[in-house]
Amino acid sequence: MNEAELKKYYNKKIAEIKKHNKLYFEDSSPKISDNKYDKIKREILDLEKKYSFLKSISSPSISLGYTPSKNFIKFKHRVKMLSLSNAFDKDDLVNFEKKIFNYLNKKIEMEYSVEPKIDGISASLTYKNGLLVMGTSRGDGTTGEVITENLKTIKDVPHKIIDKDFPKDIDIRGEVFIKKSDFNNLKNEFANPRNAASGSLRQKNPEQTKKIPLNFVAYTYGFFDSKTIKTQSEFLSLLKKWGFVTSDYNKVIKTINDLETFHKKFEKDRFDLEYDVDGLVYKINCLELQKRLGFTANSPRWAIAHKFSADSAYSQIKDINIQVGRTGALTPVARIHPVNIGGVVVSNATLHNEDEINRKDIRIGDTVKIERAGDVIPHVIHVDLKKRDKKSKKFIFPSECPSCGSGTVKEFNKATNKYDAVRRCTNEGFDCEKIAIEKIKHFISKEAMNIDGLGKKVVENFWKLNFIRFPQDIYNLDYNKISTLEGWGDLSVSNLKHSIDQSKNVSLDRFIYAIGIRHIGIENAKLLAEFTKSIKNFLIFINKKKFNEFLDIDGIGETQINSLKKFFENKSNYEVTKKLSSLLNISVIKINKGGKLSNNTFMFTGKLLNMSRAEAKSLIEKHSGSVVSSVNKKLKYLIIGEKPTNRKVEQAKEMGIKILSQKEWLNLLD
Ligand code: IVH
Repeated sequence: MNEAELKKYYNKKIAEIKKHNKLYFEDSSPKISDNKYDKIKREILDLEKKYSFLKSISSPSISLGYTPSKNFIKFKHRVKMLSLSNAFDKDDLVNFEKKIFNYLNKKIEMEYSVEPKIDGISASLTYKNGLLVMGTSRGDGTTGEVITENLKTIKDVPHKIIDKDFPKDIDIRGEVFIKKSDFNNLKNEFANPRNAASGSLRQKNPEQTKKIPLNFVAYTYGFFDSKTIKTQSEFLSLLKKWGFVTSDYNKVIKTINDLETFHKKFEKDRFDLEYDVDGLVYKINCLELQKRLGFTANSPRWAIAHKFSADSAYSQIKDINIQVGRTGALTPVARIHPVNIGGVVVSNATLHNEDEINRKDIRIGDTVKIERAGDVIPHVIHVDLKKRDKKSKKFIFPSECPSCGSGTVKEFNKATNKYDAVRRCTNEGFDCEKIAIEKIKHFISKEAMNIDGLGKKVVENFWKLNFIRFPQDIYNLDYNKISTLEGWGDLSVSNLKHSIDQSKNVSLDRFIYAIGIRHIGIENAKLLAEFTKSIKNFLIFINKKKFNEFLDIDGIGETQINSLKKFFENKSNYEVTKKLSSLLNISVIKINKGGKLSNNTFMFTGKLLNMSRAEAKSLIEKHSGSVVSSVNKKLKYLIIGEKPTNRKVEQAKEMGIKILSQKEWLNLLD
């Protein structure tokens, strides 16, 4: 068979397995025997092994062929299931500690609970009065799938806990995984142990889950108000006492040097473990300190995953393509001959930026070492120069944007006094096709407008069909036209319409994030929203070009101000923002009114003891107060730290504003 014939044959087999998957998983009425089903599956897997160009998302090597979201009820986690930020070396760890010291505004002695990071999938178990009442998958972190019955098939998951100390209402969280020895028997069905665990856990039929031996290790809690438990290590011991399985390798370590030593040893020994471990998790042991440090948008400030070095393999670069990102960044991507790295077939590797290509002198045709670790994008480590073709030529990075032909620049970074490593298209708005598509993809994304049903692929398709050119076009789609497209049934069109309609009600912070200003991530968008309070006000700041007033916001600096200016100087960005603001219902920021400090305004001067300004501000806001940035009539209290600005204190005295020491202010909050 030639390539085209092979593809045709393969697709026929994929269609066959899809049909039987539906009959089995969704309709629960299989029409063929298990043996026959396995035969089709094996044939597909053999074909994929032999011919790397055969690929399908419906392949049994990737999915089990069903859509879990249809099969399971969704449930909003009472406490979000966040992920962890990663550290790869000592510098990252030092940086992690530094950020904590900055947040607390003082150096403290650290103590970490160190736990192996098992490479499985996380699950949450809700116990009420000792009974397991619900089990969920992580889902997108906010909403998970209810998979109670499947989780109950795991022997390590207690159904009932009889222990007088066990909390009345608690979510226990941990990792579901499959042992290496058990995976060996399933090698032909799944790409790696993690996929096997995930596939098995999310079967519609719990009987199927039972067939694949899964394990559960508990390591944290979700919803739970700990009053008596002081440390994470104490919580881990209690988990064990209550009947959960915890890791035998959990440890308490104090210094970065000792963390490094333990990491090095564990990295070597990990191959002897019964399961895959892709790093160590370090959590600040003191639970009260954890609470104080809190979370950024996606991960806790008090924990980090220290990854082990990645799996790697050699392959040859077929071509280098330049991708254009939402903010105009030009990212070179190496298209390589597909190669299996640690159970995953890799065919692209990021080359990061122009500087990286020059530094490593990466060329088309080169044989390169590629590394991949967990969810980190595969990247090139070095070139094997011995294998380089004598005639090979240096790769010349394009000086024009490959999408719109505009000039490109490397910006000068005043903070580092260096030129950026990244080259960018100078076109910030919607005139560059690739940037426009990426902007729309960002607009619909989960953290932004959260338009389910309008995924990235659909955006690309709608762009090709000329349905959308700007984000506002999403609100003028012709649904009759869409329903005539292949793959769009009545249900999917009505789902799309529903999620688009729902997205019309949006909070100001999400909206600011959604319009996609460089350097304005979720956190900064929140700060801008809290400061401007309403879209009307936000637009006044933009129209009057009062960007510098944002400098009063703790957390917003010159980088963000310059980016805001540049963004709105572009006519298309400005027009899109205005159009959207008239189309959408953008809610004003709700102020938590019930707290102790409601209707009170505060301002700080001088250095605070053991606390950063950011933490102090969030403490005031938590209690419904607000922080202002100048001494004026609206100010009620001036809080003075070490070395206050005398002029401010004098001014406050003159205006009869109350002056508080840090201690007196904290007393107000008990
Ligand atoms: S703590 C907010 N502890 O790693 C705290 N996670 O990237 C987050 N994981 O989704 C979880 N071992 O699936 C925690 N001892 C451990 C862990 C662990 C593995 C996984 C978990 C989580 C991911 C975070």
